[in-house]
Amino acid sequence: MKYFNTILETVGSTPLVKLNKVTKGLKPLILGKVEVFNPGGSVKDRPSIRMIEEAEKNGLLKPGGTIIEPTSGNTGTGLAQIAAVKGYRCILVVPDKVAQEKINLLRAYGAEVVVVPTSVSASSHESYYSVANKLTAEIPGAFQPNQFANPNNPEAHYLSTGPEIWDQTDGKITHFVATMGTGGTISGTARFLREKNPKIRIIGVDPEGSIYSGDLAASYKVEGIGEDFIPRNAELKLIDEFVRVSDKDSFTMGRRLAREEGLLCGGSCGTAVVAALKISQDLSENDVVVVLLPDGGRGYLSKMYSDEWMRDNGFMPAPEYSYLAADLLDRKKGRGKISPLIVVHPEDTIQATINAMELHGIDQLPVVTEDGHNVGHINDVIAMQVVYERKDPSKTTVGSVMGRPFPQFDINAEIDQIYKSFRLGNAMVVITKENKACGVLTKFDIMSHLREKISSSDQVLSTKEERKPKAEKAKLGA
Ligand SMILES: Cc1ncc(COP(=O)(O)O)c(C=O)c1O
Repeated sequence: MKYFNTILETVGSTPLVKLNKVTKGLKPLILGKVEVFNPGGSVKDRPSIRMIEEAEKNGLLKPGGTIIEPTSGNTGTGLAQIAAVKGYRCILVVPDKVAQEKINLLRAYGAEVVVVPTSVSASSHESYYSVANKLTAEIPGAFQPNQFANPNNPEAHYLSTGPEIWDQTDGKITHFVATMGTGGTISGTARFLREKNPKIRIIGVDPEGSIYSGDLAASYKVEGIGEDFIPRNAELKLIDEFVRVSDKDSFTMGRRLAREEGLLCGGSCGTAVVAALKISQDLSENDVVVVLLPDGGRGYLSKMYSDEWMRDNGFMPAPEYSYLAADLLDRKKGRGKISPLIVVHPEDTIQATINAMELHGIDQLPVVTEDGHNVGHINDVIAMQVVYERKDPSKTTVGSVMGRPFPQFDINAEIDQIYKSFRLGNAMVVITKENKACGVLTKFDIMSHLREKISSSDQVLSTKEERKPKAEKAKLGA
């Protein structure tokens, strides 16, 4: 019979997989070390088990003890899984910006999760480092692995990741490419590979906004990598070269890995592969590049794998069928539907409003001042209420009963933005030019526009520059 005694014995021995499509045109063999195969789903299972088992050996963690670590990421998952198998209590301290899904994942393994505010400095007693330290000091038998300084983090890679890569490539590896969080992966793996062959080049990959590659500390979206301090576990002298990669390039490559290579990857895999491809441009057929892929993509489905999230963060252009508000107003006029702007003024009477609604067959109208400012809205329900409350509609002004203004968008706004506003439940939006109302758009305007696009694919326009002239052409019946 072939079986493992516990799930923890399955950590490591992950496959090396050749990248075939994203590497097109490049000469070296480029291999991904696919760490999602670890039981907790990431490279972090390796240091997690080593840090715990060494603590057990050294008497720092005893039966019935508690593991405490400030981490929201993959190390938390690894520790929670180990605690479940070995019967420890596990408390993970996470900042409140962490997605509920991640907290649920840690709790699924039975870990206790303490949520602390993000908006405090690292030195504050409320910071997640301080809270973890306080809990460790107060709870008897508590042990904090401290992945940033614990030498067993890089040691895990020296003992497993490095030897695996050496064996899997028959010692032919020429370049090792890895992202850096604590620095444990790159430092331990590089130390082993260098001992085997000092000529192997080590490439550290860093997101824009992290100080490893000399950038100024700034915020970025890719998770698990980059730092605003140099952790003790990052042995920078082992690194020959740093490559800095933007969020946009990281996520775009991550998505390509899923679609082209069938590798559902996390964002930092994209970061690493962008760097691997970059350095491979100058390499030959004799080179063997190993790029470490730290985790999988399931934890990021509502982020980098969501088109909406990508667009909201400026990492993806608006969809191809998108137009500007101006184009839609033009098309509305072109179809001879209604004149694009019917409004009432605050000083108009409800009677005049009811007349306008009946005349044009519409049940809601923006309220706009004489000089074009969008100040409110009026609809059939408000008009009905006036009559119901026995007020005289010919004496009641719109301004005295109107509701809040409809959302307002500039004439050059993308339809995509307006679409989102409708999804929030708005009935109508006001389009402005130099801050003055010049038209309205309804859900039906968007819907009929999109339906036309789908049924006449030859009219699908690709770039912003192309849109305007084609919209003009459509209006003229071209
Ligand atoms: C998704 C992801 N990628 C990369 C890393 C970097 O690994 P290391 O801390 O060993 O430098 C981490 C570390 O947490 C991670 O979670």
